[in-house]
Amino acid sequence: LAGGPLSGRHVIVTSGPTHEPIDPVRYIANRSSGAQGTALAAALRDLGARVSFVTGPASVPPPTGVEVIRVETAREMLAAVEAALPADVALFAAAVADWRVANAAGQKMKKDGSGQAPALAFTENPDILATVAQMGQGRPPLVIGFAAETETVEAHAVAKRARKRCDWIVANDVSPESGVMGGPENAVTIIDAMGTEHWPRMPKAEVAERLAARIAKTLATLETP
Ligand code: C5P
Repeated sequence: LAGGPLSGRHVIVTSGPTHEPIDPVRYIANRSSGAQGTALAAALRDLGARVSFVTGPASVPPPTGVEVIRVETAREMLAAVEAALPADVALFAAAVADWRVANAAGQKMKKDGSGQAPALAFTENPDILATVAQMGQGRPPLVIGFAAETETVEAHAVAKRARKRCDWIVANDVSPESGVMGGPENAVTIIDAMGTEHWPRMPKAEVAERLAARIAKTLATLETP
C-alpha cells in the first residue's frame, strides 16, 4: 500500500519452526505452523511496509509481496536476520528451537545390531530476539517478541520482556486445550513499558491486523530515522 502508514518502513519478521539436524535425514522440530507470523507479515505489507520474512520450514505458505528468506536452523535464522538489518521493526514470531543436537552425525546414523540406542547431546541455540534487542548501534527502534506459554502466561511474559530487553512481548497460551498452536485463532496479551493489554480471542489474521496497526501508531510517535 503506497502511502500506507508503514510505507518507507522496513520490518523483519521471523516465522515458523526451526529444524535442528540429528543427521542428514533426521531433525528435531516443533509444532509451529507459521500461521501467526505469516499473517503478521501480510498485515504489515498491507500497511505499506517492506517486509523481510525469515521463515523456517513452515506448514503454511509465505505471503506474497514480501521478501522470503528460507532457513532451517536457529543459527541460519540469526544470520539471515543480521543480514536483513537495519530495520525499523523486528518482530520475532518464530518458534526457535532452544537447543540443537551437539553431536549431529555427518552421515545417516545406523543401527549397529548391538541393541544400543544412540545418545543425543544438546547445546543451546543463540537467542535471536535477545541478540537483536541487546544490540547497541543499529538496534531496531521497535523489537517485539512472542511468548508461547502453557501456564502463568502473563507473569512469564513480563519476566521474559525484562530478561530479553525487547520493547513488547506478545504472549499467548499454547497449552493443548487452548487450540492455538496450529489452530485458526489466538488470544494474546501485550506487555510493553506502559503495562499489560489483554485482547479477546479472535482469528489470527485479526490479531495480525491489530498488531500491525499498533506498530504503525507506535512508530509514528518515535523519531523518524
Ligand atoms: O524464550 P522463549 O523461546 O519463550 O522466547 C520467545 C521469543 O523469543 C519469541 O519471540 C521467539 O521468536 C524468540 N526466540 C528467538 N530465538 C531463540 C528463542 C526464542 O528469537 N533462540
